[in-house]
Amino acid sequence: MGGNVLIRNGHIVDPSQGIDGVGDILIEHGKIAGIEIHGGSAEERKQRETKAADSRTVDAAGMYVLPGLVDMHAHLREPGFESKETIASGTMAAVKGGFTSVCCMPNTDPVNDNETVTEFILRKNHAEGSCYVYPIGAITKGQKGEELAEMGMMREAGCVAFSDDGRPVTNGLVMRRALEYSKVFDVPIISHCEDLALSEGGVMNEGEAALLLGLSGIPSSAEEVMVARDVILAGLTGGRLHIAHVSTEGSVRIIRRAKERGIRVTAETCPHYFCITEEVVEGYNTDAKVNPPLRRQRDIDAIMQGLMDGTIDVIATDHAPHHRDEKRREFDKAPFGISGLETALALGLGLVHGGVLTMPQLVEKMALNPARILGLQKGTLKAGSDADVVVVDVKREWTVDPEGFVSKGKNTPFRGWVLKGKPVMTICKGKIHE
Ligand code: DOR
Repeated sequence: MGGNVLIRNGHIVDPSQGIDGVGDILIEHGKIAGIEIHGGSAEERKQRETKAADSRTVDAAGMYVLPGLVDMHAHLREPGFESKETIASGTMAAVKGGFTSVCCMPNTDPVNDNETVTEFILRKNHAEGSCYVYPIGAITKGQKGEELAEMGMMREAGCVAFSDDGRPVTNGLVMRRALEYSKVFDVPIISHCEDLALSEGGVMNEGEAALLLGLSGIPSSAEEVMVARDVILAGLTGGRLHIAHVSTEGSVRIIRRAKERGIRVTAETCPHYFCITEEVVEGYNTDAKVNPPLRRQRDIDAIMQGLMDGTIDVIATDHAPHHRDEKRREFDKAPFGISGLETALALGLGLVHGGVLTMPQLVEKMALNPARILGLQKGTLKAGSDADVVVVDVKREWTVDPEGFVSKGKNTPFRGWVLKGKPVMTICKGKIHE
């Protein structure tokens, strides 16, 4: 983007600077040059007019202008599972959903457990990606949970966090060591909390709905005992722990207590954990098969409370695209996962429409907080930052049609939902996507 862009008259929300008002934002040479909130003197207004004269001007009246969203939990599937998603298709989906930075989980083939894979991902994204990609390295070699991977080498190559996501780190000593290293490298350890002995064989939430469908259940305790173990280990080591995809009331309670006690823990949830319950599985809907599973209304209520009081810092997508044929198998055999990049913002905005979060709080959860947790200079519209910007029409209603997704993953339980709020323009890496 050699030229300048002036986005005028939009409602700018940037919690990193406490900005929440109508104004203009100027982009020069791919960087944020400055923001002016309306009002001001006649002289200032005249300066704005002068700047507008030699820029591409975007009229954002009636729209929100936000920092590009940061997704700290996505599966881009490359290398190895290109039939599900590629870095090219996943980052295109990201940009369409308002995201300008995406962190990709290491459960690829080969696993991202060494710097060669990390470098491959970064090179591939440099060549083909539509947004910024930050790899997350595996905690253990091959994600087998046994031996720590080369965290130092991967950190140097560009990994921003470590996780065995998709699988838990079952061995407590291995987790303890990983948390100790997290202090050395100053990165979070992202924990997929699941006690495999408790969840074994389960395909949906344990309870009445599973009984009626004749499906095996995964109890809330399978998540909660591992959340408890990991906050205890974070307390022991002083390491940096981030809990992935929180789905239960009990997990929220444990994390809240841990934060009160000063343990270094942060947490994320995903839109499907505050929008839908286990009932959506009815009819053996494999698009609603996800791990951890969809839970009950009381879990949704607790997660919303956790988002409101700051117990849950982040809304991530856990974008988990799968090939259509895999999801068409019988419920027991279909893979876990929901394609989330193209619906997350609208589902998050539902919390704003419903009075659960304010707009600045939503931007914190979807842009600023993930960037801060990962130490990225993102999620902000501060002058000098990369011009990662999303313009959102929060009133626009649209119907979710996965056939129209840019992601290869059409697996969404929100098919046919009418959502309110759509990104109409995403600016990233010097390009305007509209
Ligand atoms: O539903 C899920 N899908 N949960 C995970 O933890 C992994 C993910 C995947 O990779 O498909």
